[in-house]
Amino acid sequence: MIYLDNAATTFPKAPRTLERALERYRDLGVSPGRGSHDLALRAGDAVDEVRSAVAAFFGAPEPERVAFGANATDALNTAILGLLRPGDHAVATRLEHNSVLRPLHHLTQAGVIAWDAAPFDERGIVTPDAVEALLRPETRLVVMTHASNVLGTVQPVAEVARRCAARGIPVVVDAAQSAGQVPIDMAAMGIAALAFTGHKSLYGPPGIGGLVVMPSLEVATTRFGGTGVDSASLVHTQAYPLRLEAGTLNLLGVLGLGEGLAFVRAQGVEALHAREVALLTRLRDGLAAIDGVTVYRADGDLAGRVGVLACNVAGIDPEDVGAILDGDFDIAVRVGVHCAPLVHRDLGTIERGSVRFSLGAFSTEADVDAAVAAMRAIAGG
Ligand SMILES: Cc1ncc(COP(=O)(O)O)c(C=O)c1O
Repeated sequence: MIYLDNAATTFPKAPRTLERALERYRDLGVSPGRGSHDLALRAGDAVDEVRSAVAAFFGAPEPERVAFGANATDALNTAILGLLRPGDHAVATRLEHNSVLRPLHHLTQAGVIAWDAAPFDERGIVTPDAVEALLRPETRLVVMTHASNVLGTVQPVAEVARRCAARGIPVVVDAAQSAGQVPIDMAAMGIAALAFTGHKSLYGPPGIGGLVVMPSLEVATTRFGGTGVDSASLVHTQAYPLRLEAGTLNLLGVLGLGEGLAFVRAQGVEALHAREVALLTRLRDGLAAIDGVTVYRADGDLAGRVGVLACNVAGIDPEDVGAILDGDFDIAVRVGVHCAPLVHRDLGTIERGSVRFSLGAFSTEADVDAAVAAMRAIAGG
């Protein structure tokens, strides 16, 4: 089977990472930070080790400001709901995933905020000018994806952040698709908070992710509960990370994330990225040469992109293309709207979506060539 759905979740994971996490969990599997017995303290230390690794990986100065949660969706909800107040205005982009769009829409429907979405251009890029044009005196947040999960384009978040900093507006970045694929240095890029997920290009298991918050930003608590600290008080603990972590942590997930991160660091983000861009270029060249196949926003040099490519075959429903790829060629891809409806509205593909190929660290030239050959056969009828 050829797996080209790595933007949904990477598969397979790196050898032995999940096994190592499970072995550690067998030894340490109590509730970290709850209780003062030796094992609880060691479990807490293991979690803090991963916090430190995550902070270092993203160029964030304070590991305690890495708040673990379930995934990027969870972290984006934590940021958006914790930062916006009644009367505020927010700016996002038309590239966003529903994990940004839906919290913003929810707050708008509830009469709390207003928001606008900056358009992307012919290259699939949201320019800093496009974001800046939407800023208002009452704009309190810019939240944007770092890499589009449909087009694979990487956005100029550092320049957006630089312009927003001049107006005191924090930029929160959705790094679900970029973390582990392109280098991220929050301090250097001026990112105020970053949402990540463990199961994509960080090669961890599902169910773990988090929000990394810079010291310049305070995110209000929006979920309340047990933290293992100040338990006699009815007020939720306000020190980070517990301020944004309520309830028992996913220790197995944290350990798995730590192992995944170690794999990514050992390979090197730049090396992983260079390899994916080479494969992406091979895939684009192959698909673009097929009569009847339209590839979206992937002209020219693909350097700097993540390994995601969306296309369609003229006259064939993407659902059917996906079914044929799966049934006849044993190739797994994702079809449909990919939880990013505004992208598809702008591409003119909102009715049926597209066929998305996405690469991972274990994709090969042979996988890409097989995908191109399959698409040629499908387009040729
Ligand atoms: C750009 C983007 N943001 C957010 C998410 C949500 O990630 P998760 O499902 O891990 O919460 C995804 C997942 O597909 C994504 O591609």
